[in-house]
Amino acid sequence: MTHLLDAARFIEEESAFAVGAPEHGTAPAVVFDAAGKVFKPARGQPAVALTNVRLNVRRGEIFGIIGRSGAGKSTLLRLVNGLEKPSSGAVLVNGVSVGELSESGLVTLRRRIGMVFQHFNLLSAKTVYDNIALPLRIAGVSRAAIEEKVSALLDLVGLSAKRNAFPASLSGGQKQRVGIARALVHDPDILLCDEATSALDPETTQSILALLRDINRRLGLTIILITHEMGVIREACDTVAVIEQGAVVETGPVWRVFGEPQHDATRALLRTLVHALPDDLAARLKPASSPALPGEAADVLLDVRYTGASGNDPDLAALSSSLTVDGGAVRFVHGGIDRIQGHAQGRLVLAARLSAHERSEGAFASRIAVLVERARRHADHVEVLGYV
Ligand SMILES: Nc1ncnc2c1ncn2[C@@H]1O[C@H](COP(=O)(O)OP(=O)(O)OP(=O)(O)O)[C@@H](O)[C@H]1O
Ligand SMILES: [Mg+2]
Repeated sequence: MTHLLDAARFIEEESAFAVGAPEHGTAPAVVFDAAGKVFKPARGQPAVALTNVRLNVRRGEIFGIIGRSGAGKSTLLRLVNGLEKPSSGAVLVNGVSVGELSESGLVTLRRRIGMVFQHFNLLSAKTVYDNIALPLRIAGVSRAAIEEKVSALLDLVGLSAKRNAFPASLSGGQKQRVGIARALVHDPDILLCDEATSALDPETTQSILALLRDINRRLGLTIILITHEMGVIREACDTVAVIEQGAVVETGPVWRVFGEPQHDATRALLRTLVHALPDDLAARLKPASSPALPGEAADVLLDVRYTGASGNDPDLAALSSSLTVDGGAVRFVHGGIDRIQGHAQGRLVLAARLSAHERSEGAFASRIAVLVERARRHADHVEVLGYV
């Protein structure tokens, strides 16, 4: 419901056509300067939604915000376009403190900021063309100028063929393209996306992300994007901030935060991306400390991680030769590597065969220590998971 109200307010308040070019320069597009937000209901306890948020969103970047449900992500976004005012601190957009703007100042600000919603918020009785044109009509833009602008936007989002279609006949991805086109009618320099891909299937999500990246590059647009899908952050964002109970607990380039998450909240969110050990292996896994059974060969499972920090590239030949004992096999059991912003990162679970001979000699523990030591020369973290 709030999303619909947001959309309505946005459309209604767009009462003049955009004027002035975006200010380009080195100043951040958005600064959260110790921003806090407390909701004070007429009755009941006040709800602290945000506490002392300090963030800089650089001009032209795609900035992702992640956090559990209720962490304060949407509130953070709504501070940017003045749908909420900070209770403490300030939010600066293009150097202007949003909380201090008059109503007419807010109208001007909101022309510089587009917003895209999870549920698209299209008017079902209007065609694609009219949905996109509406904010311009309200702003009193001439018919010819509207035609030119909307045609260009339809082209940009790849929907020229659907200009006379009604929303009901569109797929989710097409509806979101209309939502994006509508958000761009006033040539904003900031685009806010609150779960813009959450209602879409993975393939459609990819195409919408590609569109957002394209817009980001071609139009130099700063994008702030909230999502619960970690894959979206990995694919699309330059910087990510993690919000937990209204506070920023971690922020930085995506490759660094994802490669070596520092906070438990981040690790919990990223669990969906981690290649957890498959159940069958986990069930057979014995701790490395348990006494070896004499006379049997065993596979030591090693968790080999690449964080992207050291520039270590997964060199399988070097890794495997460092783990090969007496010609025994080294197998790649599980895992995978991603590339985030040019950094290789991920997890490989490798099985190194230890012979029955070594085990009967009681050399198990020291042999494992040697393996780990050697593997560490080729990776960022190596841990023994156990043996099977
Ligand atoms: N208008 C409001 N009045 C009172 N409390 C509010 C209001 N808006 C948000 N809150 C509270 O502020 C906190 C943060 O809400 P917010 O919507 O920003 O979370 P979120 O991170 O976007 O969650 P989700 O992932 O579920 O969308 C929640 O505890 C919420 O109940
Ligand atoms: Mg939200």
